[in-house]
Amino acid sequence: MKTFALYSLKGGVGKTAAAVNLAFEAARAGEHVLLWDLDPQGAASWYLGVDEAAEVSAKRVVSGKEALGRHVQATVHDRLSVLPGSRGYRDWDAQIHAARQPRKVLETLIDPFSETFSLLILDCPPGIGALATSVLRAADRVIVPVVPTPLSLRALDEVLTHVDDKKVGKTRVIPFFSMADRRRRLHRELIDSPPPSMKKAPDVFVDYATHVEKMGEHRAPVATFAPRSRAAGQYRALYQALA
Ligand SMILES: Nc1ncnc2c1ncn2[C@@H]1O[C@H](COP(=O)(O)OP(=O)(O)O)[C@@H](O)[C@H]1O
Ligand SMILES: [Mg+2]
Repeated sequence: MKTFALYSLKGGVGKTAAAVNLAFEAARAGEHVLLWDLDPQGAASWYLGVDEAAEVSAKRVVSGKEALGRHVQATVHDRLSVLPGSRGYRDWDAQIHAARQPRKVLETLIDPFSETFSLLILDCPPGIGALATSVLRAADRVIVPVVPTPLSLRALDEVLTHVDDKKVGKTRVIPFFSMADRRRRLHRELIDSPPPSMKKAPDVFVDYATHVEKMGEHRAPVATFAPRSRAAGQYRALYQALA
């Protein structure tokens, strides 16, 4: 089982939108996909049509007392299941920090899913605490949406520094420009001459698009209701660049 994490220090940069659309593209390509919504807001699960949050606490999950597998729900999409978010996920950092081996927590929790799934996608809440460190270690790829602005690039630098500091090893951090708006001079300039931290970025990015916003109306991945849209094509290209 491969594990991709959608992660950023920042909120509102397009992690959840990318998690949902990448999960859909992967399932369509034949992978057996589980999307674990680690965010207490539960937006990823909601976009996939799942109404019921998982009533679990981070404490019980981290302690191993909660059998996570029983919370997995099928979605209306073939080969795509979801482990919904839970309001009880608000204190991941404190709970993981208190564990005996904080960095190994996520790795241990996801291991059983490798029997059933070929790809796990983790949709992370923003932040750079114990959860992030554990995710960075568990994931094969950490995919970081970066809005083409100096602040967003600074957040990426912090993540890269964190990865170096924590020596999380094999993890590959893959940034991509997200919510890019070429009508804006600043966005255009950063896209045209990206800084060194973006050099690992695949040659694809996701533009600012109304179709992505409309995911909230349809509660579905873009490709299901706007298959020919640029946004659908860009998420597919992003998936292909990662696969
Ligand atoms: N490419 C995009 N174009 C336009 N709106 C977007 C795009 N990506 C995300 N959004 C919108 O921005 C908001 C934040 O996106 P989201 O994926 O939830 O970010 P995060 O998970 O990083 O907090 C949402 O309202 C979403 O619909
Ligand atoms: Mg999110």
